[in-house]
Amino acid sequence: MNILEILPAVRMLASKKGLVTCSLTDEKGEGSADEKTLVIESPDELRTAFKSWYESNDSAPESVVVSGVCTIAVDSAGDTGRQRIPGRIVIVTGGAQGFGAGIAEELFEEGANIVVADLNEEVGSEMAARLNAKNYSNKSFFVKTDVSDPDSVENLIKETTLRFGGLDVMISNAGILRAGGLDEMDPKTFDIMTKVNYTGYFYCAKYSSKVMKIQSQYSEGSHFMDIIQINSKSGLKGSNRNFAYAGGKFGGIGLTQSFALELMPHQIKVNSICPGNFFDGPLWSNPENGLFVQYLKAGKVPGAKTIEDVKQYYENQVPARRGCRVIDVVRAILYAIEQEYETGQAIPVTGGQEMLK
Ligand SMILES: NC(=O)c1ccc[n+]([C@@H]2O[C@H](COP(=O)([O-])OP(=O)(O)OC[C@H]3O[C@@H](n4cnc5c(N)ncnc54)[C@H](O)[C@@H]3O)[C@@H](O)[C@H]2O)c1
Repeated sequence: MNILEILPAVRMLASKKGLVTCSLTDEKGEGSADEKTLVIESPDELRTAFKSWYESNDSAPESVVVSGVCTIAVDSAGDTGRQRIPGRIVIVTGGAQGFGAGIAEELFEEGANIVVADLNEEVGSEMAARLNAKNYSNKSFFVKTDVSDPDSVENLIKETTLRFGGLDVMISNAGILRAGGLDEMDPKTFDIMTKVNYTGYFYCAKYSSKVMKIQSQYSEGSHFMDIIQINSKSGLKGSNRNFAYAGGKFGGIGLTQSFALELMPHQIKVNSICPGNFFDGPLWSNPENGLFVQYLKAGKVPGAKTIEDVKQYYENQVPARRGCRVIDVVRAILYAIEQEYETGQAIPVTGGQEMLK
């Protein structure tokens, strides 16, 4: 076993009394046993060593030495009893702004340790620092990530494992939208959108399921994990002059159903969440290049004179008469995590605008 396999194994074995995080202290493994340190001679003895530890101790060790290999620090989660996912380790791709930032904030309040993974280093690091400034026992850090690059996603999982000890929930949220009909859409733009929105989800599932499978082996079936894709209502219904986006999102649901079949035996559920339009987010409301401004300038909404007119036009198409909000998506995420008897689903969160057939 290498260090990246030992860490999630130790984390699960040390999580008997509640989820902990683990981090790599050194790659020497030279410490000696004391009342808070468990020394293990070989990685093959992890299970038996923890079994004997719990025979004489009520709580997990604070430090685990694997002789000659590494030392691992164990941090207890500090569960307040009021949070819904205390101690979970959650990656949010595209977590610097928009839906991703809101999801990161809300899940942090629910006790999760959050890895903000985004291309945007400046805003993404600020987000992680803002969460840590709350001084909760759960923590956050940022990893610069390009989800369309497999090496970058592999590095994200490696950093998460070294600093938190494993991974419980991968939220594949990063996405881009470049609209255009067949005459306007050039092949290069189509390829970029497909790489981020579709292939990026495959990379997230591929590398996160590796560490989750190790956790599954060492939790003896008691710990469920999740891969959640933030899809769209455009993944359920075609979108006029927006086929590059809709096609990638439809494909994402095919991946979700297939990953779900493959991963359920490892206690890993895979679901997509399909939000309606997030009118308050930057994609729609950015005052310089948001979709409301673009649609007003392009005269896309007949008779509209102001941004408010354009917004009203779109809100009127939703039975709930408003756009989707972060909290609507977060409720669906928490449902997917807490529900152990469901996988492979595409959950619409559209205020009634899109209904399953
Ligand atoms: N905004 C909407 O109305 C809406 C509706 C339904 C679904 N969605 C979906 O929600 C998700 C988030 O959308 P949003 O509107 O919050 O987007 P956004 O543009 O506000 O934010 C996207 C974030 O992803 C990051 N990002 C972009 N490309 C990346 C890459 N290759 N690697 C890593 N990070 C990258 C950006 O830096 C940004 O921080 C997307 O998957 C989108 O398709 C959005």
